Amino acid sequence: MTSADHRDMPVGKVQDGSNGPGDERAADPRAPAERRRRPTGRRSSDRRNFVPSGRTGCRIVDLPRIGDPRGNLTFVEASQTIPFAIERVYYLYDVPGGESRGGHAHRKLEQLVIAASGSFEVLVDDGSTTERFFLNRSYYGLYIPRMVWREIDEFSSGSVCLVVASKHYDEADYYREHDTFLADARAARRAA
Ligand code: TYD
Repeated sequence: MTSADHRDMPVGKVQDGSNGPGDERAADPRAPAERRRRPTGRRSSDRRNFVPSGRTGCRIVDLPRIGDPRGNLTFVEASQTIPFAIERVYYLYDVPGGESRGGHAHRKLEQLVIAASGSFEVLVDDGSTTERFFLNRSYYGLYIPRMVWREIDEFSSGSVCLVVASKHYDEADYYREHDTFLADARAARRAA
């Protein structure tokens, strides 16, 4: 089993030379369509968020960002910015310091996890590989496919973990026991 913390991974290719919100404030506020076409900018402090692809099938999705002097806007569109139709949205908030959430996997559910506010870490495990992602920007989402165990911890004070999910809540879709998940994940890998 290997592990990686993407904060240590090399910086991905930066899409343009813009410098994040500062640049966007300088844009002409009367030209929203033009702003919309602009590639997303990144701050140098974003580099630890950028991971090209995950070995577990998890990956960081760079969400559209509409910069505006009145405040930025990011959106998620089913089957456009994420590879699934959206049936449910939920969010974790008021998480006490030191607590962790998750601690399960899903048989069929796909999710996009966003640090809508603050920051937290997500450990993912597909049964053979683990990766740890640090989320602290509201314009990055962590895509988690089916059959991946996840644990969410290191919540900053006041953080909000927004989750966009492909299906309605269904307890039968959960693996709550890690051993059961591991057995099924490894059996599926052998059968593939
Ligand atoms: P759970 O998915 O275990 O929380 P976590 O995000 O920490 O993994 O859900 C906790 C409880 O909330 C559990 O009793 C099921 C319930 N729940 C719903 O009723 N609907 C939902 O959409 C979710 C996500 C959870």
